[in-house]
Amino acid sequence: MRERGQALVLTGFMGTGKSSVGREIARMCAAPIFDTDKLLVERFGMPVSRIFEQDGEPRFRDAESEIVAELRGDRPCVIVTGGGAVLRASNVEMLRALGTVIALTAEPDVIFERVSRRPSRPLLQTADPRATIELLLAEREPLYRDAADHVIDTSALSHADVAHAAIRAWQQPAPTASRQ
Ligand code: S3P
Repeated sequence: MRERGQALVLTGFMGTGKSSVGREIARMCAAPIFDTDKLLVERFGMPVSRIFEQDGEPRFRDAESEIVAELRGDRPCVIVTGGGAVLRASNVEMLRALGTVIALTAEPDVIFERVSRRPSRPLLQTADPRATIELLLAEREPLYRDAADHVIDTSALSHADVAHAAIRAWQQPAPTASRQ
């Protein structure tokens, strides 16, 4: 049994709204925000797509784990994770120790529509990004659900509505212990 921290941790697939909702929650609660993708971009000094291109996904994943390990949950803050952060069980263990984990979900069509607005995701640079989304979602959905204390479907909600729902979930009595 391990104590949980005070952070609100957002996980979920690309295009579920983690970054926008995280910013909204941080603004509403006047809380600091830490976005693992942003921290990676600062550390490498290049966009995520270039990190994948130049250093490869394994190096990106190792750096992502290093960043997760550096995060702190000893005071209220918002932590936004990249969509692949749940792929490693060790990351999930660390994220759950940081605080309340909230997974954002969305319908595949909604995800496709949202990610098509910004063609910056290296994993979706395929001949058929819609099919890639389906494939990755099938692999990852159980991981998001298992890692999360709460799940919020963002398909038909505004960022502000999702932020309010996440804050309500965050304020519920702390889950007793991490699973590990
Ligand atoms: C990834 C999601 C991205 C980013 C990288 C890998 C993934 O973050 O970390 O492109 O594996 O799902 P967003 O979920 O913020 O798009």
